[in-house]
Amino acid sequence: MANKDEHELSSDTESVRHKFIDRIFHWTAGVLIIILLLSAFLPILGIKFDWLPWHWVSGVLLLFVLTFHIVRALFFQNFLNMIPKTDDIRELLFLSVKSSDPQKYNAAQKFYHLITAASVLVLAITGAFMLVKIDTPLWNRNPAILSDDQWGIIYVLHGLSSLVLIFLVIVHTYFTLIPEHRQFLISMIKDSGPKWARKKKND
Ligand code: HEM
Ligand code: HEM
Repeated sequence: MANKDEHELSSDTESVRHKFIDRIFHWTAGVLIIILLLSAFLPILGIKFDWLPWHWVSGVLLLFVLTFHIVRALFFQNFLNMIPKTDDIRELLFLSVKSSDPQKYNAAQKFYHLITAASVLVLAITGAFMLVKIDTPLWNRNPAILSDDQWGIIYVLHGLSSLVLIFLVIVHTYFTLIPEHRQFLISMIKDSGPKWARKKKND
């Protein structure tokens, strides 16, 4: 059975957990995603306003910041930090973690990132296609690039992943605001925080 001590949170090592530029990315992407969700769902809930400019402009900005993050993650950060490994699956199944290597992110954070990244990328890519369907000051609409069936797939993917994302944002906000995770919240605000989310007790 799992020994709780083996993967308890470490809060003793003070370090820069998220660099300034990564914190700017997190909050910019977070605010843009919240604007995108509100502009999509408030009109459906009966609060009517001119939602489309809010939606497409923040969508375009999100495409830029995501490109920045992906290039940075692939070439300038430690890519392996966020890849779930066997021990992460064991942690989720409440089995004991075998490796004594400390981990920057725990299993919940890695899987949260994976599912969030997948749903945000599906939204961003399908959204980029949908941009071609509207007139903006920057370009004119051209729905002929895809067939009706292909547009149907784009719309279903966009709608389904937005529902998944609402759930993820609520869960994420709840878990980052509870007192047990205060050091992680601080680490997304200023230059200090726990180095590891999971480490063996006597490391
Ligand atoms: C192919 C797509 C993606 C890759 C390869 C990727 C990769 C990574 C990696 C390796 C890290 C850990 C950096 C570190 O702490 O050492 C990270 C952190 C993070 N990712 Fe992603 N990511 C992707 C997509 C996304 C998306 C779509 C979002 C948007 C919600 C996102 C949001 C974040 C945030 C907020 C962090 C924590 C901030 C930081 O310290 O960098 N990622 N990502
Ligand atoms: C009220 C809003 C939010 C708060 C308080 C918040 C807080 C945080 C904190 C404290 C972390 C760092 C955890 C760590 O150091 O390991 C984090 C990471 C991250 N955030 Fe947020 N966040 C918010 C909104 C969002 C939104 C809207 C998204 C996108 C859907 C998002 C995506 C991520 C991702 C992918 C990570 C990296 C995975 C992780 O470390 O858990 N965040 N967030």
